[in-house]
Amino acid sequence: MKTEVCPSMMCADIFNLEGVISAFEKCSIDYLHIDIMDGSFVPNFTLGTDYCRHIKSRTDIPLDIHLMVNEPENKIEWFPIGENDFVSVHAESTNHLQRALSRIKDKGAKSMVALNPATPVCMIENVLDDIDAVLIMTVNPGYAGQKLIPSTIKKIEYARQFLDSSGYDNIKIEVDGNVSFENAVKMKKAGADMFVVGSSGIFNKDYSLEKGIELFRKATD
Ligand code: DX5
Ligand code: ZN
Repeated sequence: MKTEVCPSMMCADIFNLEGVISAFEKCSIDYLHIDIMDGSFVPNFTLGTDYCRHIKSRTDIPLDIHLMVNEPENKIEWFPIGENDFVSVHAESTNHLQRALSRIKDKGAKSMVALNPATPVCMIENVLDDIDAVLIMTVNPGYAGQKLIPSTIKKIEYARQFLDSSGYDNIKIEVDGNVSFENAVKMKKAGADMFVVGSSGIFNKDYSLEKGIELFRKATD
């Protein structure tokens, strides 16, 4: 599958969002990864519903909304999502995972289950018909700038094998957390298709966003 680049907007320069989005449009990146946190499922707050609406009004780049919130099934409605957008919900954040996923689908969007590093891949076993992708967290969610949890590389490999052997080779694998150029090579080799690139990769003061994306694509080609 094609390597898709999904910059993590919580790492973007808030004082220059116009320039950031123009750079991403110029580089034809695939999704804008937008982290939504409720201070309860994860110990942090980041971006919100109005932020998503502003971004959507400014660009046609599809959104990849990462809901790190409890009971996401009751909050899907709050977001401006459409057919090209992804929405991920954490398997650990709800008693009604299938209901949350079907509500994403009802909005015409693409659905994804996110798994924390300690959560086994088998958690998606009974929702394979309800998802377009699985998000393997390679750090514990909540903050940018963390270090990769090494065991998650094997977890990506296992997830890819599990999906392919179950007849779901169409389901993509997204990775999120410390996706540095070096780690991205290992993640891709293990089977990842969608890469959430944040402070470890393209958002680096030593080079422009365009340069960062060029370096990332070179590293993962
Ligand atoms: C962490 C977020 C990630 C994070 C990635 O909870 O989901 O999107 O911003 O940033 P880095 O590359 O710094 O790990
Ligand atoms: Zn994220």
